[in-house]
Amino acid sequence: MDFFRYRAGTLHCEGVPAADLAAKYGTPLFVYSRATLLHHLQQLQKAFVAAEPLICFSIKTNANIHIGRLMAEHGAGFDVTSGGELYRALAAGGVGSKIVFAGVGKTDAEMRYGLENAVVLFNVESEAELHALAEVAKAFGKPAPVALRVNPDLPPKTHAKTDTSVKGVKFGLDIETVLDVAKGVVGNPHVRIVGLHMHLGSPILTADPYRNGAQKAVRLIEALRVQGHPIRFLNMGGGFGIHYRKQEALPATAFAEAILPAVKASGCNLILEPGRFIVGNAGILLSRVIYTKESGGKRFVIQDGAMNDLIRPTLYDAFHRIWPAWRQEGAPEPPADYEADIPGTTPADVVGPVCETGDFFARNRALPPLARGDLLAVFSAGAYGMAMSSNYNSRPRAAEVLVDGDTHRLIRRRETYDDLVRTEREVSGA
Ligand code: LLP
Repeated sequence: MDFFRYRAGTLHCEGVPAADLAAKYGTPLFVYSRATLLHHLQQLQKAFVAAEPLICFSIKTNANIHIGRLMAEHGAGFDVTSGGELYRALAAGGVGSKIVFAGVGKTDAEMRYGLENAVVLFNVESEAELHALAEVAKAFGKPAPVALRVNPDLPPKTHAKTDTSVKGVKFGLDIETVLDVAKGVVGNPHVRIVGLHMHLGSPILTADPYRNGAQKAVRLIEALRVQGHPIRFLNMGGGFGIHYRKQEALPATAFAEAILPAVKASGCNLILEPGRFIVGNAGILLSRVIYTKESGGKRFVIQDGAMNDLIRPTLYDAFHRIWPAWRQEGAPEPPADYEADIPGTTPADVVGPVCETGDFFARNRALPPLARGDLLAVFSAGAYGMAMSSNYNSRPRAAEVLVDGDTHRLIRRRETYDDLVRTEREVSGA
């Protein structure tokens, strides 16, 4: 469910025509719908209400502090994975008591920063990290609350680059080692193991892995309690899938049905770390066609968005729906199924200006005729879009706009050429 709709052939974000936004703010432009963001957060809040969960918005998904503020204002905490993300979460109005600090390679300085801000839990991923945290906490003079992150060793469930719960990935403690690691800190006054954490991978389009993972968690929690660790938190991470191709995502209730029985059985407080589910379908990337050309027997649409703005297609072969933001006379309607045979379209590669063959948003994609100046919408770009953007090819990063009903506001200005060199000028005086 989202609030991007075609009306009279023109794409609108809530009440605002996409073309007006592109004219005002330029392209490439990330456009977010406030109503869609809140709808998805509330879907999770409602589905899991029986467990009164702490929903920690995974800020890596979209780190804009204005979006973070919206999350905080509507009851969410934050999942952070670096000192920088903790800084952003605090800047967005987050409070330590609702922040979980994840990450496989936290430095001492980051741990200290977490302690200073009294984060509710450190998700600890190795024995070495647990002992390092104990040292930092000792020096700081306050024990660190810990959830051990377990790799539950489940079958593959998503793209290999983002599956975090198969054997052999860098994340978490192997499930057979958790109890040994926990035993090593029984009675240690500097770390308190009070939770169990798992994040299965992302995006996940079925509920079974959550059911299986949660059942394994219940058994581990019981064993940890026998060791004397007062486990109060079960953190099931994020990973809930969204609509990229058509309507393939499960509703929040399906994940709740899989997870809630284990929460009840464990007697724990539930923590979730969703990111994509909240913001993914709430954002689009608008770009403008610069040129079209035929080359090597193929049709190319060269537009002003590029892999530095949205790296998912080239990095993960990810599919994003793409369609003109306004419809010319006689052009086909936006289809329900972008992978079907769509009359009035021909295949095209949608590419950007970056000097790499891998710079594309789509290949062999059915698209209507397009011409220089046409506006394109790349859908489901709210998660891991801007957050993974870069300045490659010295392209200033795009602007971001938040739409609320008939109003809109800039939540990040477009970078300038001056921004590109500022940190270099500061040190050299050039
Ligand atoms: N918690 C932990 C520990 C995570 O590692 C992640 C994502 C999340 C929560 C949030 O997952 P979500 O609810 O957003 O699925 N860049 C990739 C996805 C990488 C996911 C990294 N970890 C992509 O664009 O598909």
